[in-house]
Amino acid sequence: MISTIRPTRAAVTVRVPAKVNLQLAVGPPRADGYHSLVTVFHAVSLFDEVSVLSADKTSLTVTGEDAAAVPLDRSNLAWKAASALVKAAGLRGSAVEIRIRKRIPVAAGLAGGSADAAATLLACNELWQTGLSMRQLSELGAELGSDVPFALIGGTAVGRGRGEELTPALAAGSYHWALAFGVEGLSTTQVYATCDRLRAARAAAGDQPEPGEPELSHPLMTALRSGDAARVGPLLTNDLQPAALSLQPELRRTLTAGREHGALGALVSGSGPTCAFLASDAAHARELAVALTGAGVCRSAVRASGPVPGAAVMPDGLRTK
Ligand code: C5P
Repeated sequence: MISTIRPTRAAVTVRVPAKVNLQLAVGPPRADGYHSLVTVFHAVSLFDEVSVLSADKTSLTVTGEDAAAVPLDRSNLAWKAASALVKAAGLRGSAVEIRIRKRIPVAAGLAGGSADAAATLLACNELWQTGLSMRQLSELGAELGSDVPFALIGGTAVGRGRGEELTPALAAGSYHWALAFGVEGLSTTQVYATCDRLRAARAAAGDQPEPGEPELSHPLMTALRSGDAARVGPLLTNDLQPAALSLQPELRRTLTAGREHGALGALVSGSGPTCAFLASDAAHARELAVALTGAGVCRSAVRASGPVPGAAVMPDGLRTK
């Protein structure tokens, strides 16, 4: 009998992007506590890198942006991702050393934790030559976090359900962004709970009906197909924004500062507190990032562009920088 010996690698590095939500329509809470969503995910060029190395015992180290805020034990989504793959592939006893280089801030509304989980799934699948398909990795990922499947595919995509049911979106061109990071993080769970509370209060006061099922914005989809940032900007919406602003009122100043510097669109990214500003081109995005940093309305600001592809294996195995 001929057996095939597949080459194994000592280390694999995956680069994975952050996301912003171009639309985030939130429905009422479901029986399982999650909210039904319709969202337009958009992957941007702000990347974490995750390396996995064969080891006798699983361990985790984190360097870079916000490293001190990341748990280093089994509660880390990357660790959970490695364990989930061990279980799904029947690899009992396999372990990895996980090294995360973070540039995506933590608890920022940019899906950094989900990105690291997606990267770990892909990296371990490669390291162990497990051979799971993207669909299988995506199903495993959805159990770990609602945004994990999107971090695997990237680009621009419509998310439904909890956000894990994805359809690629037709978007033309490339968009330039300034991302303003908040001084303090926000808990996604707390932002959703605040959204429910604000809505209930408004409904009780007769100001607003209870939310119905969320719907995709067709004007936004048409604008995205045109590739015209000036058309897309005014159509960016986020139902979680009032909740994020009520928890961190200072974000109003951040949004206002971006609009005053000519942003074509300005909104809180996901559950916040990162604010995303759509610029007319790369130079404008740089100007916006400099102006926002200088105005003292955020911790720091960077520019990024999108859409970019999802998690991808880097060609040179373990990267040292
Ligand atoms: O899925 P993930 O772990 O990223 O979600 C974090 C928290 O965000 C959930 O525990 C839940 O409170 C809230 N959430 C929600 N509805 C969604 C996604 C997240 O209520 N569709």
